[in-house]
Amino acid sequence: ASTLKQGAEANGRYFGVSASVNTLNNSAAANLVATQFDMLTPENEMKWDTVESSRGSFNFGPGDQIVAFATAHNMRVRGHNLVWHSQLPGWVSSLPLSQVQSAMESHITAEVTHYKGKIYAWDVVNEPFDDSGNLRTDVFYQAMGAGYIADALRTAHAADPNAKLYLNDYNIEGINAKSDAMYNLIKQLKSQGVPIDGVGFESHFIVGQVPSTLQQNMQRFADLGVDVAITELDDRMPTPPSQQNLNQQATDDANVVKACLAVARCVGITQWDVSDADSWVPGTFSGQGAATMFDSNLQPKPAFTAVLNAL
Ligand code: XIL
Repeated sequence: ASTLKQGAEANGRYFGVSASVNTLNNSAAANLVATQFDMLTPENEMKWDTVESSRGSFNFGPGDQIVAFATAHNMRVRGHNLVWHSQLPGWVSSLPLSQVQSAMESHITAEVTHYKGKIYAWDVVNEPFDDSGNLRTDVFYQAMGAGYIADALRTAHAADPNAKLYLNDYNIEGINAKSDAMYNLIKQLKSQGVPIDGVGFESHFIVGQVPSTLQQNMQRFADLGVDVAITELDDRMPTPPSQQNLNQQATDDANVVKACLAVARCVGITQWDVSDADSWVPGTFSGQGAATMFDSNLQPKPAFTAVLNAL
């Protein structure tokens, strides 16, 4: 294969990327997205603070631009995301708790209905757990308890029965207390007949620290009867990057691809951001970066070649 999507498709998988409208307005970046990837995740454009920044007033314009780009380039779309403690407008977190459920259901219904038929999979609840494996005590939990998750999934399913519905989180890639908690939640939701189709493993890795239990962990989720996906892959290192770390990144990313290919229900891999130029990493992890497969001039790095060879 000469592109990521060709390699992925030859294995019955997709290779996705997240991008913002701003990045897609850069023609070189847009060209790279269209050439290499067959799945698109909006970086921020479908989050609550963009879509419904004040109650009942919806702005689908930016998300629509993402969908239009995907459609024009034969890409599918991962909807990201419906319910999350972060990038949540203040009006939601300051509602009386008695009104949170109806606000959540209205938000989900409006957004999923708007994009009905255009979304391959929704991250319905994003990052529900803290790192100890307890559900975060955000406003949704405070208002509804743990049942908010089933309620969100049922509400999304009613609005678009054909979209795959995911829970998505980070630090659940290896076997640990947090992934155990996600595993138990998925098992419970399945046993209760709640519509849950998949688990997203964000995979914001640190160079040299891809968990050795990644494949085994994804397999145990698949064995519960759900799809699994790598939803936000990047592999960060101190900047400027050393050649040694770039080579380790190549090994790391190829190992992630191999783990996915070894799990029949691992449907695909998405890189978070197009290149080191638009990556969220330097702005979030001080002194870290170089986390994607393309450098800040959009040139392929050793990781790109290694991933292509692993596909
Ligand atoms: C990040 C975006 O990349 C940034 O532009 C934004 O400022 C913050 O969110 N986990 C997720 C993503 O699920 O939505 C986050 O995206 C990265 C971590």
